[in-house]
Amino acid sequence: MTALAGRSIVVTGAAAGLGRAITLRLATDGAHVVAVDLRSSTETVDAVRAAGGSAEAIEADATSSADVERVFTAAAAPTGRVDAVVNNAGRFGGSSLLDTTDEEWDAYLDINLRTAFVMTRAAVRVMLGQEERDGVRGRIVNMASQLGITGPPGALTYSVAKAGVIQLTRQVAVDYGREGILVNAIAPGRIITGDHPGERDYLDHGTIDAATEFSLMRTPFGRLGVPDDIAAAAAYLVSDDCRFVSGALLPVDGGWTAY
Ligand SMILES: NC(=O)c1ccc[n+]([C@@H]2O[C@H](COP(=O)([O-])OP(=O)(O)OC[C@H]3O[C@@H](n4cnc5c(N)ncnc54)[C@H](O)[C@@H]3O)[C@@H](O)[C@H]2O)c1
Repeated sequence: MTALAGRSIVVTGAAAGLGRAITLRLATDGAHVVAVDLRSSTETVDAVRAAGGSAEAIEADATSSADVERVFTAAAAPTGRVDAVVNNAGRFGGSSLLDTTDEEWDAYLDINLRTAFVMTRAAVRVMLGQEERDGVRGRIVNMASQLGITGPPGALTYSVAKAGVIQLTRQVAVDYGREGILVNAIAPGRIITGDHPGERDYLDHGTIDAATEFSLMRTPFGRLGVPDDIAAAAAYLVSDDCRFVSGALLPVDGGWTAY
């Protein structure tokens, strides 16, 4: 496919899980993907190249303005543009209110919300300086969560941070829409990446732990999500087909948040 041919796209959290699947999908659709992660994204980039796509890995902390500036300089180098950014880096976890320390609050807000803020600010700065293509200067996709809509038991900092990501999305879409920047968010449901406790057993042997069984029972569509479900949503939101959708939250959760 060549739907994204000639496009330069930055994906954070690209070393694993959803970020890896998104990177593979966007590169397969023809984009050059800058794969950003705290740790090495070499495996992701090798998989892209093995599939005939184009990607480069940059180790960077998406909470750091200096690191993020380095990322955008590299991403804009080949074409002078950054066409889209997928702010995917994040981490599930947290506690209930009385168990939440000041340090935990800062850490989860940083990784789940500050990352999106720092990346979005840098993206908008670059995008404002580039020409429109069919009325669009750039597209930004933020990874929220179904848990930014519904409050899960015992994950205060995560759910508050993801709710912030949803509001950041709306606010930036409103403030920069007239400049040709589209900003949207994805709210994944429970997605089985194989990287979290119990998931490898489920994928390899069909063994289901209590948390996974609850997620399955709670999902109206009757299966759990897979990373390609999220990659497909991201591929639409960064594509030319997405031209009048902005400030939106797309749940990709098999209907979890429908009731
Ligand atoms: N997997 C799910 O079921 C699910 C559901 C809802 C939302 N999400 C969201 O989707 C995103 C990806 O989830 P995942 O399950 O693939 O997570 P994951 O933990 O498998 O991967 C996240 C990646 O982000 C990287 N990262 C963390 N902090 C970073 C930083 N400061 N700078 C750069 N990279 C950083 C990590 O190194 C890791 O490689 C997260 O934002 C998560 O909250 C996931």
